[in-house]
Amino acid sequence: MGKQTFYITTPIYYPSDKLHIGHSYTTVICDAFARYHRMAGDEVLFLTGTDEHGQKIQRRAEAKGVPPQEFVDDIVATIKDLWVRLNISYDDFVRTTEPRHHRAVQEIFRRIYAKGDIYKSEYEGWYCTPCETFWLERQLVEGKCPNPDCRRPVELTKEESYFFRMSKYAGRWRQFIEENPDFIQPASRRNEMIKFVEQGLEDLCISRTTFDWGIPVPIEEPGGKKHVIYVWFDALTNYLTGCGWPEADPAKYEKFWPADVHVVGKEIVRFHTIIWPIMLMAADLPLPKTVFGHGWLVLEGEKMSKSKGNVIDPVILCNKYSADALRYFLCREVVFGQDGSYSEAALVSRINADLANDLGNLIHRTQAMNEKYFARIVPAAAELPGDDPVGRLVASLKSLAGETVAEYRRQMEGFGLNEALAAVWRLLGRANKFIDEAAPWNLAKDQSPAGRDRLATVMNALAEVIRIVAFLIYPVMPVTAGKVWDQLGLSGRGPVAGQTLDDAEWGKLPAGVEFHRAEPLFPRIDPATLEVAPEATPAAAPAPAPAAPAELDIADFQKLDLRVAKVLRAECIPGTDKLLKLQIDLGAEQRQIVAGIALHYTPEELVGKEIVVVANLKPAKLRGEVSQGMLLAASTPDHAVLSLVTAERPVPPGSRVK
Ligand code: MSP
Repeated sequence: MGKQTFYITTPIYYPSDKLHIGHSYTTVICDAFARYHRMAGDEVLFLTGTDEHGQKIQRRAEAKGVPPQEFVDDIVATIKDLWVRLNISYDDFVRTTEPRHHRAVQEIFRRIYAKGDIYKSEYEGWYCTPCETFWLERQLVEGKCPNPDCRRPVELTKEESYFFRMSKYAGRWRQFIEENPDFIQPASRRNEMIKFVEQGLEDLCISRTTFDWGIPVPIEEPGGKKHVIYVWFDALTNYLTGCGWPEADPAKYEKFWPADVHVVGKEIVRFHTIIWPIMLMAADLPLPKTVFGHGWLVLEGEKMSKSKGNVIDPVILCNKYSADALRYFLCREVVFGQDGSYSEAALVSRINADLANDLGNLIHRTQAMNEKYFARIVPAAAELPGDDPVGRLVASLKSLAGETVAEYRRQMEGFGLNEALAAVWRLLGRANKFIDEAAPWNLAKDQSPAGRDRLATVMNALAEVIRIVAFLIYPVMPVTAGKVWDQLGLSGRGPVAGQTLDDAEWGKLPAGVEFHRAEPLFPRIDPATLEVAPEATPAAAPAPAPAAPAELDIADFQKLDLRVAKVLRAECIPGTDKLLKLQIDLGAEQRQIVAGIALHYTPEELVGKEIVVVANLKPAKLRGEVSQGMLLAASTPDHAVLSLVTAERPVPPGSRVK
């Protein structure tokens, strides 16, 4: 029998800004599933990419004064770099600006047009550019975008457009959803979608003429009018492009389509479970097997997003705590399908409790005892008499290990990632307890052959658990799994990445392996060294001068990203007498900062000033306003005079202060 195939996709990300840990969450999860399926013996296609067209990107590029292609090229490079840092093992990366993707989008458009399901008409309605979504008047909430995470102003749009006859497919869609109850997961999202369609399915506007950053509609227009294809119609098609459709690689398409799962955030489930399946129905192509809508990573109850200024940079966390620690946190802390909270304290607590303690200690204790009692060579297990208490303890550990692997497989096949990890940690907990119960240090006192047998069997069992755990943590922590593998003297069997899960079976530990000494996998982190929580970060609050400021290493100073910023707008914040809200230009981006300087400066006199800001400070919220940075000011000891630090000669906004 040939290998089974497994095709998994992430959403393709907008390269409008650097990605944050919310985006990393989706990708890390997909990577864990992809790695699991490879280890389980499947032939995997793991696809990710970038969604590069549309009005939002075009406007961002214009604001920066560069051509859109140049704009996205720069950001795509940072996205690819992030995936390298996070060890994302994608097989292909579709950029929607690639020719192979243009061909796929134009082909699906042509097919649906040829069927008569695309027609031309006049669009009049509302458009939310940040969400790249059309809305009807009745859907707006207080005149704004109804997406609860957005609620930004919408634009009245009136233009000649092509329309996709979605309404015709409402009945077929409903029938498909009923016949395929697992298509939309989790079930709660399925119910939401059914309700949405019950309200009536409108035809969808799928072309735009008021800007040109997109894939041209492949139909000759009278008068040479240029239509570009709606960005979601374009983006969704990436899942076909990535498997070789229509002509790039027919064998790949045959092998992998339909996709096994599209993993997407809950806010875009609607596009993936209504528009996308109907596009495929209309083009007479098979539908994906599952769309899984996961929850959001939230910070203080709000979805992380650049526009709210509450984003956390995954690169900083990788550098500080390692990619594996962050990956583990993301996969373990959040129940897959539900929202989960991010905080650095929670990350550190997972590292200390689960990684340093449960996993690290088990390995460290086992290695040390194995070295002491068996000169590092893992002994073979002995046949202990049935009534031997140590034998019974080992048998129970062995049976839990077997159950854990089975449970882990079941959970991973059903997208229960955090449950799968919970099962592994139950085994680790049991193994640590087993050491205390079997007390090898007592067994070692008995030098009789029976005593040696018991000790050998205990040490063998522990090494066996650690070997099995290396398999099970591999999808989530590939680097750590590799270290454990090598430490256990298994590198001669090839890298952990090339192992098959069938070998995660008790008794397959090769005879005579040497359990090496190694650095601790995850040193404990002192929670007292944590940075101040974002909400407590004061912006330009006149802090009392420390009696004797500590000396800094140059490396510490270099951690500060000080930049010149031009003040574009400034206004008072109602209800406060000290705070001003400033919109500043940092060259590559515009930001908002809140500063406690209203008693010293009027908003008018600030506009146009070139001030100095700390640009890499965690965002904070002050009086409900997000502050993405802190300005620098000098103050007399009694705070009577405050003087802003400004650039002495004009320099471009964003210039580094060194
Ligand atoms: N370009 C579209 C997707 C097109 S797919 C054919 C898009 N891009 S996005 O960059 O805005 O977001 C991509 C995905 O990032 C979201 O679906 C979601 O999965 C993920 N997340 C962004 N912020 C997130 C959180 N705060 N938490 C969890 N995931 C989040 O939408």
